[in-house]
Amino acid sequence: MTQEEKQGIVLPRHIGIIMDGNGRWAKSRGLERSEGHKAGANAFRTICNYGADLGIEYMTFYAFSTENWKRPPKEVRAIMKLFRDYLDEANSRESENEKRGLRFHLIGEKSGLPSDIVSRMEKLERGTADKKVMTVNLAINYGGRDEILHSVKEIAKEIKSGKMNPGSITEDDISSRLFTAGQPDPDLIIRPSGEYRLSNFMIWQAAYSEFWYSDIMWPDFTPDDLDRAILDYCRRNRRYGGV
Ligand code: IPE
Ligand code: IPE
Ligand code: MG
Repeated sequence: MTQEEKQGIVLPRHIGIIMDGNGRWAKSRGLERSEGHKAGANAFRTICNYGADLGIEYMTFYAFSTENWKRPPKEVRAIMKLFRDYLDEANSRESENEKRGLRFHLIGEKSGLPSDIVSRMEKLERGTADKKVMTVNLAINYGGRDEILHSVKEIAKEIKSGKMNPGSITEDDISSRLFTAGQPDPDLIIRPSGEYRLSNFMIWQAAYSEFWYSDIMWPDFTPDDLDRAILDYCRRNRRYGGV
């Protein structure tokens, strides 16, 4: 995005990306699906850094859903290996995190993930907790319904212990118990790969998000595509039910 384009627009504070199309990208090149995931991980690295350079405050990357465990074990193993590799790399490049000011946060059910991935993730969360430029939510073993269920269970516990009263539960009580507690809802949700669905991504938070779809497969997604999505978003009129 040129400086000129950047002037006079209000950037979305929070962008969510459903990183889809890795498998088809690989298939169209006669490669294994795991190669598509590897290429997708590289696109993630590029887009994450570019978002921070632009000055986006929050970016959420949907990397593995609660439903993706249905895939063949070999593919799941390959994806988990990519998470390990990325987390090791991110944990070892402190000066780069420092420079870009990236703060990492896992959104997703930790209890269902291999423990070594959770410990790598927690290390990265601790190591970047004081960074301020951009919060990167990594959605791994994430499902929007699972997240709401988690919030409801927390509330139920507080009602049982007498700390909350069922009649006074508010929307904020639900939001503040989601994995994204304290963060603004996504302004813009991007889904490449020609699919037009949320696939259980941020279903609570997306109530008033703007959507941007594209036929590009995620590994081919470039900073120019992110610019296009943002500039398109900036031309929209968000009414939130008003006039
Ligand atoms: C997204 O790409 C990555 C994950 C869901 C883990 P896909 O693997 O879903 O790619 P397609 O949709 O099969 O092309
Ligand atoms: C959504 O993609 C999940 C992620 C990108 C992590 P899927 O490929 O799992 O979604 P469906 O199955 O096409 O809805
Ligand atoms: Mg897919």
